[in-house]
Amino acid sequence: MKVPFLDLRKQYKSIEKEIDTSIKGVLNSGHFILGENVSKLEEEFARYCGTKYAVGVASGTDALELALLALGIGKGDWVITTPFTFIATVEAIVFVGAEPIFVDINPDTCNIDTEQLEKVLAKSSKKLNIKAIMPVHLYGQPCDMNAIMRLARKYKLKVIEDCAQAVGAEYKGKKVGSFGDCGCFSFFPSKNLGTYGDGGIITTDDKKTAEKLRMLRAHGAKDKYHHVIKGKNSRLDELQAAILRVKLRYLDRWNAGRRKIGTFYNRLFSQNRLNDFIIIPKQFPGHKHVFHVFAVRIKERDKLHVFLREKGITTLMHYPIPIHLEEVYKYFGYKEGDFPNAETAASTVLSLPMYPELRREEIKYVVKMIKQFCEGSDT
Ligand SMILES: Cc1ncc(COP(=O)(O)O)c(C=O)c1O
Repeated sequence: MKVPFLDLRKQYKSIEKEIDTSIKGVLNSGHFILGENVSKLEEEFARYCGTKYAVGVASGTDALELALLALGIGKGDWVITTPFTFIATVEAIVFVGAEPIFVDINPDTCNIDTEQLEKVLAKSSKKLNIKAIMPVHLYGQPCDMNAIMRLARKYKLKVIEDCAQAVGAEYKGKKVGSFGDCGCFSFFPSKNLGTYGDGGIITTDDKKTAEKLRMLRAHGAKDKYHHVIKGKNSRLDELQAAILRVKLRYLDRWNAGRRKIGTFYNRLFSQNRLNDFIIIPKQFPGHKHVFHVFAVRIKERDKLHVFLREKGITTLMHYPIPIHLEEVYKYFGYKEGDFPNAETAASTVLSLPMYPELRREEIKYVVKMIKQFCEGSDT
């Protein structure tokens, strides 16, 4: 049996007619940039997240960068984030001229450890011009937003949530992206709400921030050819917005499907007594995980990855190198051992196939092969 990590064709097939109609609608309209679909998606997405505004942009990476710019963060400023994320989080900080301060992760969630965050703030807030916290809801698991917002208030910091992997996730009944000053989402095709190209969106409750974001994404223009701030071209286009408007209607159903698959994996792991070998994703009361990624942890990760590949199962590693040890950021001066939880996670996490259309037989096969691996290993 072959089990791909993800098969986007299955999702397309399930909503083919609606998608095709929406694409044709855009083609027939002759309007491709910043039209009705983008503004309607912005309204619908803001309503979905429980925020007042949403501003469509060209990617999740741009969403982070423009959010930082809109909040006035740049050269000389410091932004706290996690070293265990996709590179784009840190890239955005660096691109606006600010510098990241890393805080290690909580090994149970792989999200920023709020106890360590508190210690870092107590130690560094007087020495460095810390302006913001950028928590990442990694894998679709919400961060501890109560603690983060409390610290942000105490130290007068902005909060920019990196929600790229967590659209629809909830913390104590409230959607991610509605806690901080800005929530940044990615519509990369493989995301829980993905389009057929690149795209992103920023949520906010602040009118001025939304207005600034709208200018930043369109060459800093207030009206056509009236450029009032330095901006760039980072627009979500009509085609992608039209596709996303169809898909947004299915998002909760798809996320529920992912959660069911997560439960099924967990049940099979315990039925097969694999819990001594495999650490499964932890879920906490009040945290609604949407399983963008189903990341387990295992000591012999690299061997299992190869073993499963030989059995026709594709797995990935999110992420094999923590950001502080990435070649590009060597100049930050960090070394191995600086963030031990992130480093351990990087060497043990393995993402198993996870998408709403994944079939039970496929999941059973994945677990059966993991069992076969564990029985033959001395882990
Ligand atoms: C945590 C995180 N932040 C930011 C991004 C960047 O999003 P995009 O690929 O749309 O630029 C991603 C995308 O993979 C991500 O996973």
